[in-house]
Amino acid sequence: MTLDISSPEQAEQEIVQLRQQISHHNHRYYVLDEPDIPDAEYDRLYARLKALESAFPHLITDDSPTQRVGGAPLKAFGQVRHELPMLSLDNAFNEEDQADFNRKIQERLDRTTEIEYACEPKLDGIAVSLLYEDGRFIRAATRGDGTAGEDITQNIRTISAIPLRLSSDDWPRRLEVRGEVYMPSAGFAQLNQRAKARGEKLFVNPRNAAAGSLRQLDSRITARRPLTIYCYGVGIVEGGALPGKHSEILACLGKWGLRVCPELKVVKGLAACEQYYQAMVEKRANLPYEIDGIVYKVNAIAEQQTLGFISRAPRWAIARKFPAQEAVTTLVNVEFQVGRTGAITPVARLQPVFVGGVTVSNATLHNMDEIQRLDIKIGDSVVILRAGDVIPKVSRVIHSMRPDDARAIEFPDRCPACDSQLEREETTLRCTGGLFCAAQRKEAIKHFASRKAMDIDGLGEKLVEQLVDRQLVATVADLFSLSVDQVACLERMGEKSAENLINAVDRSRKTTLPRFIYALGIREVGESTAQALAAHYQDLHQLMAASAEDLQTVDDVGPVVAGHIDKFFQQEHNREVIEALLAKGVEGTVEATVVGEQPLAGQTWVLTGTLHTMSRDEGKALLQRLGAKVSGSISAKTSALLAGEKAGSKLAKASKLGVRIVTEDDFTRMQQEWVTD
Ligand code: IVH
Repeated sequence: MTLDISSPEQAEQEIVQLRQQISHHNHRYYVLDEPDIPDAEYDRLYARLKALESAFPHLITDDSPTQRVGGAPLKAFGQVRHELPMLSLDNAFNEEDQADFNRKIQERLDRTTEIEYACEPKLDGIAVSLLYEDGRFIRAATRGDGTAGEDITQNIRTISAIPLRLSSDDWPRRLEVRGEVYMPSAGFAQLNQRAKARGEKLFVNPRNAAAGSLRQLDSRITARRPLTIYCYGVGIVEGGALPGKHSEILACLGKWGLRVCPELKVVKGLAACEQYYQAMVEKRANLPYEIDGIVYKVNAIAEQQTLGFISRAPRWAIARKFPAQEAVTTLVNVEFQVGRTGAITPVARLQPVFVGGVTVSNATLHNMDEIQRLDIKIGDSVVILRAGDVIPKVSRVIHSMRPDDARAIEFPDRCPACDSQLEREETTLRCTGGLFCAAQRKEAIKHFASRKAMDIDGLGEKLVEQLVDRQLVATVADLFSLSVDQVACLERMGEKSAENLINAVDRSRKTTLPRFIYALGIREVGESTAQALAAHYQDLHQLMAASAEDLQTVDDVGPVVAGHIDKFFQQEHNREVIEALLAKGVEGTVEATVVGEQPLAGQTWVLTGTLHTMSRDEGKALLQRLGAKVSGSISAKTSALLAGEKAGSKLAKASKLGVRIVTEDDFTRMQQEWVTD
């Protein structure tokens, strides 16, 4: 970390400020269970203070948060002094830190061979100590400041996962078990759902919900909370011996009826530690509980003893943290984007921030409701969440940090792209400009050209922008009058690529009716509705002439969709565009017709594996044309499974349920009986 400090006076000033901030957040986190900044932001403040203090050691004071870990226990609980301190863990933030840790251990143990480690998920809950005497649960305490914690015996008793008597009888007479009490993700979601239904305050995350539940003075409340535990170590051991390896001790705990995390794995050497880390990064989203990293522990207890401790952490263990999924940044501005159907979406422009492995500078704010729910203003400090591959979102606003000059977000009353009036539809604002609106036009053209629509290869976003901005294309029909010369002089285009584009446009003239209908971009008419409409009307003009009532006789078309379709075809400019397309030779034909009635009418089919004679989408369309409903999952009601190559779990499930299995060859044979050209 570069300090960027010009004088000791400046350092002192910043140190004082950081200590105040950290104490404030410590209080909220440890005492109130109500943090208002993400852990990663707290870690950043803490790391900054530590760095400043090590550069200016004479400024360290006894009351600095770096000299004391944790916060004061709540007064109302009894105090428990830990006979053996409850330690904390040092952190590793990357491979290099992890390698350093491994190297130091090898040096200290004077070993050149690989070290054996126990790898465990770092659970995101509350550390507790459970005391068993003669196999009976006697007392439980929180970690507190590591030396003394709160007596939470009554609350712990309510957690069914914690045995009141140990099973088997080979346990030490006095045994202190240590572990993490946590709330599984599903239980957390339910708890918050119930709280929401009752109009109560929601918990920020499962860790806070677990902490809040454990620190209830009324244990009847704790009893209603979905808490559980994973045990990860021992403290006092008297009147009996334990095995010589950490992993074996945990196996003993398991045998005695205590919960131990099943992800525990013993590995040898640094490379295997890294492999475990990568495997857990992938597995993380599917675990039923939250973890924030991996804990590596030297497995041999004798080696742990040789290594010993420094201040508050053992030298034989380290917590490798996952990259932060939350970060704080500033909302710089809000802009309004116009979508294909005219919906106006507020987009947050953010001070760029690194989170979940990428730099984020924009996030959608969805609609007016979301802005109200967040209570967000321009200038606010906001928490950005990016978990896994999920699109980043503004998860909350830190209201305590709101600057005096924060500005309210004002919704436009006219379209930012074409100045047309906006209409309000529940929580959404929509531009009424239709294809007159340049923004909607661009989106409509992009949709028209997309793979599942007219499939015009090479007509991407940048090109569409240029074509519309230079007024070469106003409607999708204009695409079919473009010349190579017009396209060749656009940015990043040459003679050859222009020719390719024009050829692709040409090729798209002959298409299928479902694609043509889908390409028009009618609201809520996706691929399968387009297919149903094509199958029903067989001709575009028939569809255009259909009334809203008649449209509702088509499968999957309800009153809302029928209304959208009717409205679309009633608009003069839409009819004009369609006629222009037809005049330029664009043609959507109904493919092979089916002999007699639809042979698969009333049946539900599922598709799986890779097909060779057609794509999955084509297979789906064909099944639908034959009258089948196509579903994504197998059940006892499934009529048949069309199984291509490398069919996996669906094939297994179908055989188990006795569902008819049809191979691609069988299917081809069946089609020959049904379909004529
Ligand atoms: S071992 C001396 N193992 O992390 C070792 N801790 O930063 C003490 N934690 O207070 C802890 N999962 O609350 C250990 N598998 C695990 C853990 C774990 C979560 C928490 C625990 C501890 C904190 C240390």
